[in-house]
Amino acid sequence: MSNVTLDADKAGWMHDLRSLIERRVGLRVADHQREQLARIAAEACGRFGYADPPELLRALSTAPDDAPVVEHLIANVTIGESHFFRDRAQMAFLEQEFLPDLIARRQSSSRTLRIWSAAASEGQELYSVAIMLDELIDRPDDWNLHLLGTDLNVEALRRATEGVYSNWSLRGLSNIRRLHYFDSTGKHDTRQVKAWMRTRARFIYQNLAADTFPSMLNDLHAMDLVLCRNVFIYFDAVRVREILQRIVATLAPGGVLLLGASDLVNPQIPGLDIEMRPGMCFYRKPLQHASPQTPTPKRPNKPAVPGSLGGARHAAGLPSGSRPVAKASRPAVADRHADFLATLQEQVAAQRWQEIAEFAEREADRFATSSEASLAVARALGNLGQQDAALRWCERALPLAATDPDAHFLHALLLQEASRVEEALKAFRRAIFLQPDFVLAHYQYALLQLGAGRREGGLRSLYNVRNLLAAAPADRALQGAEHMSCGRLAQIIDNELSLHHESRPG
Ligand SMILES: C[S@@+](CC[C@H](N)C(=O)[O-])C[C@H]1O[C@@H](n2cnc3c(N)ncnc32)[C@H](O)[C@@H]1O
Repeated sequence: MSNVTLDADKAGWMHDLRSLIERRVGLRVADHQREQLARIAAEACGRFGYADPPELLRALSTAPDDAPVVEHLIANVTIGESHFFRDRAQMAFLEQEFLPDLIARRQSSSRTLRIWSAAASEGQELYSVAIMLDELIDRPDDWNLHLLGTDLNVEALRRATEGVYSNWSLRGLSNIRRLHYFDSTGKHDTRQVKAWMRTRARFIYQNLAADTFPSMLNDLHAMDLVLCRNVFIYFDAVRVREILQRIVATLAPGGVLLLGASDLVNPQIPGLDIEMRPGMCFYRKPLQHASPQTPTPKRPNKPAVPGSLGGARHAAGLPSGSRPVAKASRPAVADRHADFLATLQEQVAAQRWQEIAEFAEREADRFATSSEASLAVARALGNLGQQDAALRWCERALPLAATDPDAHFLHALLLQEASRVEEALKAFRRAIFLQPDFVLAHYQYALLQLGAGRREGGLRSLYNVRNLLAAAPADRALQGAEHMSCGRLAQIIDNELSLHHESRPG
């Protein structure tokens, strides 16, 4: 450990370090946390071999987001205190009202639930919901339960995946639950979530301050429930508004958002209705979510699902704004078709999924004859959480798009959503066959295999992605998911490999 003299109040670097952290990850270090930050900086100097905090600061200012020193600092600055069944009033609402209603509605339809613990810390929140679902659902294994926990603290994610907790973390749990859902670890003060329960939850990296959701690629879309609790304290008001906007877009119609009691946000969240219950409030997205009345952006937004307009991959997408629409021999028909595509293109760019679904209903025939339009509807419906209908539209488009890797990739994602694992694997293989360097298809294929317990194949596919990425510059945007750099995905894969106790590929 370096021997740095620290006087947090006087040190000029403190101000710069705080702004750097805020700029990089959107985290605001409060005044009362300066001493703590000073200690963290001193510890990081020792660990990474910097003479003093100014030298550390210089290194940080040029290091990429996934550099070990950056990740180490973030892991230490973010305080991940959490425990099981935190906030009794909210847990009672979930257990007694929201989840039973949702389960009853889905029982006779898709039997799919999508739940996101944003800022999941070490997973206590998500496993609490998993426990409730296990108790409320008759045969949970017959359901598609998508339970996703995200955080930017990689160490916390690793612990969440391992599921080992101290008695202190388990303080909100009855003895019956402790025994039923946890194994002894051999130590008197910790217990581990049982293996079958751990497979129901998935934990991945996600910086809430980054513009990377909603997206079907990381499964962050069409959520029935989002828990985003006790994290907004770290952000300023502007950042909170931006994140909330993206969360609203990530909720399915009828979906609910829970915030933490300490998250003092403006009680009015545009696009959500607030509802009160004893000791708590929650936010619900109306069933018929009005399309935002924002003007169509000049540049298309990033699509929430892969391969659509505006992305680098045009194969399956509609023509981008800059691409001329092909001239047809019958100008009037061609003009009408161009108008039709232009309208659709505008809706996709503005992510007006509900409007696209309604458009497709009105103009079903016209949509059905265009694979591009059908795929756009499939993506829109996927983003609205209507997976069955999305799959039907995608399969309608496939005969017309048989050689299009994006179409097969979308098909695979939708099959995966429907827990049709074998068919999804086949569709991923088809996408990879059509485009061998399709990184995201390899990656999703790997995760699906690992999730299905096919460790060997899954790891092989992860290495394939890692090798493909090794040839690309770290800062290059990933084809099909422009918000993600090749370097970032490589880092995520290295984490994934280390979770599977594998050494990094040479
Ligand atoms: C106090 S814990 C909250 C845990 C849990 N949600 C709860 O309420 O018990 C705050 C978590 O937010 C995470 N966090 C902070 N900034 C974040 C960001 N920009 N993106 C994602 N997670 C973030 C921290 O790593 C930490 O795990």
